[in-house]
Amino acid sequence: AQLLLLHGPNLNLLGTREPEVYGHATLADIDADLEARAAAAGHALESLQSNAEHVLVNRIQAARGDGTAFILINPAAFTHTSVALRDALAAVAIPFIEIHLSNPHTREPFRQHSYFSDKAVGVVCGFGADSYRYALDAALRRLPAAA
Ligand code: DQA
Repeated sequence: AQLLLLHGPNLNLLGTREPEVYGHATLADIDADLEARAAAAGHALESLQSNAEHVLVNRIQAARGDGTAFILINPAAFTHTSVALRDALAAVAIPFIEIHLSNPHTREPFRQHSYFSDKAVGVVCGFGADSYRYALDAALRRLPAAA
C-alpha cells in the first residue's frame, strides 16, 4: 500500500533546531528510516515537508486520488492553529496518525490543544524520532498485507 508522511513547518531544521527538545536526528534521517521500514514490509512511503500550509493542504487533497491508504503527519506548529489541515484530512477521509517528537502536554499551554487528535486513529508523542517509528508500526498493522 501507499503511505504518506507529512511534516509541518520548521521540521526541515531538525538536527539543529532546539536539539534538547527535538533530538539530533535530521529530517532526512527520519524519512530514510521510515522509507526503508515501509519497503521492508512490502509497502511504499512518500514523504513531504513544507513550511506552507497550502502545500500540505494540496498534498492531502491529492492523496484522495493517488491511492494513499494511510497518512502519518507531524503538523508541527500547525497542530495548534490549522483548521484548514484538519478539514483537508476530514475531506479525504484517509486514516491518519498524529506524531510529535516532543510531548506537547508537558510544554506551554498553547501546545496542549490539537486540531487533529480527535480525528486521528491515534497520537504518538514524546519519543523523539522513535515517535515516527511507533506510528509507522501502528499504521502497518492496520494495512492489508502487501500483495
Ligand atoms: C512538534 C510540537 C509542536 O508544538 C511544535 O510546534 C513543533 C514540533 C513536535 O514534533 O514535538 O514544531 O510537533
